[in-house]
Amino acid sequence: MGWTVADIPSQEGRIALVTGANIGLGLETVRALAMKGATVLMACRSHSKAESARSALLEQGLTGLDLIDLDLADLDNVGPAAETVQRRYGQLDLLINNAGVMAPPYQRSRQGHELQFGVNHLGHMALTQALLPLLKQDGRVVTVTSGAQYFGRIRWHDLAWQENYDRFGAYSQSKLANVMFALELDARLKRSGSGIRSLAAHPGMARTNLQRSNLTAESNQLEHLAVKLFDPLLQSASMGALPQLHAATASSAASGDHFGPDRLGGLRGHPTRCRVAPAARDSSQRERLWSVSEELIQA
Ligand SMILES: NC(=O)c1ccc[n+]([C@@H]2O[C@H](COP(=O)([O-])OP(=O)(O)OC[C@H]3O[C@@H](n4cnc5c(N)ncnc54)[C@H](OP(=O)(O)O)[C@@H]3O)[C@@H](O)[C@H]2O)c1
Repeated sequence: MGWTVADIPSQEGRIALVTGANIGLGLETVRALAMKGATVLMACRSHSKAESARSALLEQGLTGLDLIDLDLADLDNVGPAAETVQRRYGQLDLLINNAGVMAPPYQRSRQGHELQFGVNHLGHMALTQALLPLLKQDGRVVTVTSGAQYFGRIRWHDLAWQENYDRFGAYSQSKLANVMFALELDARLKRSGSGIRSLAAHPGMARTNLQRSNLTAESNQLEHLAVKLFDPLLQSASMGALPQLHAATASSAASGDHFGPDRLGGLRGHPTRCRVAPAARDSSQRERLWSVSEELIQA
């Protein structure tokens, strides 16, 4: 029997922040952590969606749920969100960088970055940097990536996809950036002697809003067909959330680890350690991405 929510140790007294917490894997992550006694800060871009997700969890008897307004498509939101956490709690045990957007038509974030790179990577990097001073020494940062990392390439000459925008290419780039960020953060934390762990996790393929939301007016018949064909392979959102929950709570999960499902080539199953994309193992590429991203965040 693989690792399940039942294996999560007590989270009593711990404070966790989960981005994209109103639906999908984020919601399942909140549910599991709250069930185990954590106080969970649901960081969401839509206050009303967050409020209804919280109400549903409260009706199920869960407690300790708070809301933080955070639209990662606008880096100016990150500072105020971190200040709210500082003011209300003063500290944090867990940060789960879960929110994500997949394959939308070309859009830019408020600061002009391609939306997926802006939300999935830059927004989470900025949030992590803002919250790091609040993280306890035995705290963890878990960044959610995807199997798309294995197809990803960092488009160094045009990170914003100003030319030849490819919806899935840009998604893969952002998910490769997620795992590169998690590993580079791990390296930097270790060098500084910090006890904080940085880990990455991917859910395989899980039935959430992500597949539906990426079917747009630009989607061709093949994409619609692919979504239908893959549907039977999708696991539930609660199974998909297990790798990030394992990274966040298992005592055996070490900084720099990367978890994904253990079956069907990482598409389904229970959490296991798995390899990251080759580009993420290259420390010079990671350092380059870190400094370019810092410049973009600070611009
Ligand atoms: N499901 C899968 O098979 C799969 C596979 C690989 C990786 N992943 C990764 O898993 C993570 C969770 O995805 P999911 O499957 O649970 O998708 P989902 O059901 O679509 O949930 C995505 C969450 O991210 C939030 N979000 C989107 N843009 C945001 C922004 N600008 N600021 C703040 N929050 C924002 C969404 O908010 P709204 O509800 O307001 O839109 C929602 O809460 C993502 O990082 C995704 O890349 C999922």
